[in-house]
Amino acid sequence: MPLAAFNKISDEDLGAVIAYLKTLPPVDNALDESGLGPLGRILAVFEGGLLPATLIDHNAPRTTPPVAAVTTEYGEYLAQICTLCHGERLSGGVVPSAEFGRNAPNITPGGAPGGWTRSQFVDTIRSGRNPKGKLLDPEFMSWNRFTQMTDDELDAIWLYLQSLPAREFEK
Ligand code: HEC
Repeated sequence: MPLAAFNKISDEDLGAVIAYLKTLPPVDNALDESGLGPLGRILAVFEGGLLPATLIDHNAPRTTPPVAAVTTEYGEYLAQICTLCHGERLSGGVVPSAEFGRNAPNITPGGAPGGWTRSQFVDTIRSGRNPKGKLLDPEFMSWNRFTQMTDDELDAIWLYLQSLPAREFEK
């Protein structure tokens, strides 16, 4: 559970997620008891020191959510979810639980989106096809989930990405 990408969500937004989950019908889906896979066992050897729950600051003050508007601040807040795969600095990362070594590209101005316009970025997220005509693999880049983002949300993320330094690809 990659907590670092989620734990800055505001109490209001987390409350909305909980309210939504409570509207879902109960599903009887018996799962095997969860356990640690091979990688988890290696991480646990370090006395849990590398497990996500031990890496976050449990005493950090709760985030006040920025006003929902086309601003870099709101874009930064929304782009936390992108750090899950594109890395903390958005300069590249590895998709969690994907096949070994599946990279997510650099999306700072130093990566491919640096040469795009705002509408090319919005079209890429909405259609899953980048300006070069490449269809982004929905198994790894969940663009089919991000199509529900509003124009303002995507514009805010674009503003934020544009405000970042042009970083080299670095995981
Ligand atoms: C679950 C992992 C994951 C998340 C979350 C994710 N991405 Fe991606 N993204 C990828 C991968 C992997 C690729 C490369 C896909 C391919 O080449 O088929 C990609 C590709 C892209 C591209 C195309 C880059 C290019 O060179 O064509 C853009 C733009 C992008 N992502 C933006 C975002 C934004 C903005 C967010 C957050 C709203 C986000 N991604 C969240 C994994 C992710």
